[in-house]
Amino acid sequence: MLVIVTGVSGTGKSTLGALLAERLGLPFFDADQFHPAANVAKMSAGHPLTDEDRIPWLQAMADQLVESGKSGGAVLTCSALKNSYRKMLSVSPSIRWIHLTGDRDLIWERMSARQNHFMKAGMLDSQIALWEKPLTGYLLDITGTPEQLLDASLHYLKTQPMNMQMGVIGMGVMGKSLALNLAEKGVSVSLYNRYVAGKEEGVAQKVVDENPEFSNTAAFEDLQKFVDSLEKPRRILMMIPAGAAIDAQLDALIPILEKDDLVIDGGNSFYKDSERRVERLREVGMHFLPMGVSGGEEGARKGPSIMPGGNAEGYAMVEDFLGRISAKDKDGKPCVTYVGPGGSGHFIKMVHNSIEYGEMQVLAELTHLLRFGFGCTAEQVSAIFADWGKGELKSFLLEITADLLLFKEDGALLLDKILDQAGQKGTGAWSLTTALEYGIPYSPLAESVNARGVSGEKAMRVAFSKTFQHEFQKVEDSLESWLPKIKAAYSLARIINHEVGFRLMKTVSDTKDWKLNFNEISRIWTNGCIIRSGLMENISANYSDSVSFFETAGVKEQVISGRKALAELVGLGLTHGFALPVMSAGINYLLGRITAESSASVIQAQRDYFGAHTYQRKDDASGKFYHTNWI
Ligand code: 6PG
Repeated sequence: MLVIVTGVSGTGKSTLGALLAERLGLPFFDADQFHPAANVAKMSAGHPLTDEDRIPWLQAMADQLVESGKSGGAVLTCSALKNSYRKMLSVSPSIRWIHLTGDRDLIWERMSARQNHFMKAGMLDSQIALWEKPLTGYLLDITGTPEQLLDASLHYLKTQPMNMQMGVIGMGVMGKSLALNLAEKGVSVSLYNRYVAGKEEGVAQKVVDENPEFSNTAAFEDLQKFVDSLEKPRRILMMIPAGAAIDAQLDALIPILEKDDLVIDGGNSFYKDSERRVERLREVGMHFLPMGVSGGEEGARKGPSIMPGGNAEGYAMVEDFLGRISAKDKDGKPCVTYVGPGGSGHFIKMVHNSIEYGEMQVLAELTHLLRFGFGCTAEQVSAIFADWGKGELKSFLLEITADLLLFKEDGALLLDKILDQAGQKGTGAWSLTTALEYGIPYSPLAESVNARGVSGEKAMRVAFSKTFQHEFQKVEDSLESWLPKIKAAYSLARIINHEVGFRLMKTVSDTKDWKLNFNEISRIWTNGCIIRSGLMENISANYSDSVSFFETAGVKEQVISGRKALAELVGLGLTHGFALPVMSAGINYLLGRITAESSASVIQAQRDYFGAHTYQRKDDASGKFYHTNWI
């Protein structure tokens, strides 16, 4: 057994630690033994230690804990004021934590009475200011005699079985991968999957059995036992399908949870449902985090981008764990941030997916045009994409598309055997309805949803292609002459997709007063997620709430230089029989937004002509409404 007793100086942790060690028959270590001489000198001179000073000290204790773990255990006492310090000491999920807390005046009194100790009593306040509420373990109030505190600690160690730090519900691809990621990063996890006779039996146990390297996992298919296995306040991550299944799971969980417990929804739920659920749990004193997770199976297992929103207090309960399992950005910072209140975490994941749809569709359009218009082989298209991916156009989706264009099955391209009907689970369409609700132009990303819809009508497409004798036309010009334009057009289409998505997010954030931080949101999207790219790194560095994304550094030049190329490519594609819904909507959207004198005067005149809807005049700045008798 490894026991760590923590608390600010003067709480009596050394006394309790020594008593515990004696009673448990374990060696006793005190943090003071591990301070380098420089730290002791600094503290004796009345200077508080910096985080940097603490690193070698914490590391020395962590090393000792690893050693002690191999030989039966130990009791260590250490102030461990912050969760980051406690994390460094968390060398094993089986560590038992006892955190001493108490009234400041009582601690002061005890400290003042102490002789020959290098810590000055005046430093108590700086320690109290640094102290963070622990994420795990037993909070023990120091009022009482050392013997009483010893009894309480022994009672805790004996009666509270070693509870797991986190529970994951749903052992589908994402749930299983996230659970294993947590276990690998030193978080003990209870795995739960429902029991459905003949269909889902022993699912969680199978995950545990297939991963024997993780001794910090336990499997359940009884919800009550799963809940009982968790440390309090409990932290439960649901990884189950969005919609009614989430509400049904909450119906089953809420009656067996307690105040201050946390439930996280890591699926792709609709953000308005999540807002309702945040409220539902708040009413019963529990925390709810609607949390976007991006990165697919591999991301979830090795490092996803994580977008938690909702209850900030709940986020604090898992911030450390989420930081451990997430991807890291180029500076090594975790790709996770507290997004904002309500359903904002799921909202930004929804828009992330909408941009993902747009990016996927542009690559599909280009692949088709290059193969069947320019007559490229799949290998040639792959090589073009791979070449673009070496420069600033780099993106995960470009990379995987270059890759899948090379994938052969029985010597033939697998891609050509895949039925051309795209699936969708909702996030793209929800983004579109949200854009309509907020009056935000959304045509380029809307077209990516529509294109999936049209693709689904396979039988009708096949019939119509005969009726209307549709065929792709070969492009006569050389690919070489078009390639620079295609690259510029692709680059601009991507910029437009991102601008559309970011504009929707900003509008909704402002309307709902969420105060979303888009530099931070784009930063957590620079790695781990599906739309990670060089462009996202640019957005993260240059995004500003005060100017349109089109005008930001490195983007404005491409909007200017790529405009003609995108228009020409769309023109070429359309006249050669290729549907290019996202690219053509993109250039329309851009031209519409940069046209000073639009055709809307005609619409206003028509409205007034047939319905007396009135219009305003360019030659009257007062904004007055006019009506004309047109006939
Ligand atoms: C991700 C993905 C992931 C999933 C979407 C796409 O960020 O990891 O977006 O969430 O691929 O659910 O779903 P559909 O294409 O099926 O709508």
